[in-house]
Amino acid sequence: MNQTLRHVAIIMDGNGRWAKKQQQARTFGHFHGVDKVREIAIAANEVGLEVLTLYAFSTENWKRPIEEVNYLMQLPAVFFSKFLSELMEKNIRIQTIGDLAPFPEATKTVLVNAISSTAANTGMTLVFAMNYGGRDELVRAAKAYAEDVRDGKRTNSITEVEFEHYLMTRDYPPVDLCIRTSGEQRLSNFLLWQLAYAELVFTPLAWPELTAKEFVELLNEGSRRERRFGGLV
Ligand code: IPE
Ligand code: IPE
Ligand code: MG
Repeated sequence: MNQTLRHVAIIMDGNGRWAKKQQQARTFGHFHGVDKVREIAIAANEVGLEVLTLYAFSTENWKRPIEEVNYLMQLPAVFFSKFLSELMEKNIRIQTIGDLAPFPEATKTVLVNAISSTAANTGMTLVFAMNYGGRDELVRAAKAYAEDVRDGKRTNSITEVEFEHYLMTRDYPPVDLCIRTSGEQRLSNFLLWQLAYAELVFTPLAWPELTAKEFVELLNEGSRRERRFGGLV
């Protein structure tokens, strides 16, 4: 890789269409997508990424049919019951961004347990964006800042770096690269602030079709790009 990638984000898209192509229900695609999370997270850890952020459920995904939403709600339990011990062995730390409050208690418990069991791990941080939306994150940050001003904790003046402390990604390095699977070329409300200068890489492969090898090729494509940040190189 030409430039070191520290933080990569993925919009895991195309599960439903991939399943439909095989005359299967959309949930079949989500089921296979779970195993793919394991494969890609392990590959990301092996190449030395510090953080991998996966878009798992957006603030807009509640609009889907209730059966599909319910199916998605129990996938964290499926994922962690299959793979938590392996994530521990690989020293991977689990975190989430997004508002977990509207999730069923069982889903929250599984996520909170995974976060606490892996909290002391020192390898890659695997972040699941769950009920996450970039606009929601920015509105929450603005509210939290306004409250700090009201409470006298801050003055009415803020820099970009200070504002980042109000974002859900405050503990992570900047996002270097965002990958979207399934051929769509849009952000769908993912990491709106953080992707301002990230490289964007798109693949026609659906999420369940992506392999570790192809993922590493996409990382290489992203790291070869010349990043200018508005200046001249
Ligand atoms: C991504 O696959 C998974 C989630 C958004 C939860 P989709 O479910 O969006 O699959 P397509 O894009 O409809 O094929
Ligand atoms: C983005 O995919 C959300 C996740 C991958 C979790 P969507 O499938 O929801 O996005 P749109 O509807 O195609 O923009
Ligand atoms: Mg989609």
